[in-house]
Amino acid sequence: MNNNWQQDKYVKACKFAAQAHNGQLVPGTDLPYLVHLSLVSMEIIAAIGTDDRYDADLAMQCAWLHDTIEDTETSYDDIVENFGVAVADGVLALTKNNSLPKSEQMGDSLRRIRLQPKEVWVVKLADRITNLQPPPSKWSQEKIANYRIEALLIYEELKDANEMLADRLLAKAQEYKAFIT
Ligand code: NI
Repeated sequence: MNNNWQQDKYVKACKFAAQAHNGQLVPGTDLPYLVHLSLVSMEIIAAIGTDDRYDADLAMQCAWLHDTIEDTETSYDDIVENFGVAVADGVLALTKNNSLPKSEQMGDSLRRIRLQPKEVWVVKLADRITNLQPPPSKWSQEKIANYRIEALLIYEELKDANEMLADRLLAKAQEYKAFIT
């Protein structure tokens, strides 16, 4: 059992993310964005608990902060200053490069994630597990189908990081078929 993560670091990362995402909602819902981040963090802590090889602090901090560079004013340097280079590098790999065509962004991010330690891979698995919820009503059938294909790509590329999360992602992707008519 790996309970090798520090509560004070958890509190700091949670508060930093809450501040950065203040006012944002989970897309398609009226829930604060913090709900998404807390569910990703929960998946990480549950999964890391099954595996002693991991630096649980690194994975947990990347979980809380994984959308800050992409969706808020937070910079890479802000994260280095507050959480160190390893966390900042992980968050940067988890950030899509908006200067690329949309169709290339996921493949590019997955390539960069695979150059990072497994603690970063697990955050991407946990993120997509958390996001495989009933899609927002405005999504087209094509977008929903593509979201599932992308989930299977994430599974293929990152499944070696953690068996529990990989199995969970695959199960969620199967359930998600129900939204494709
Ligand atoms: Ni996310």
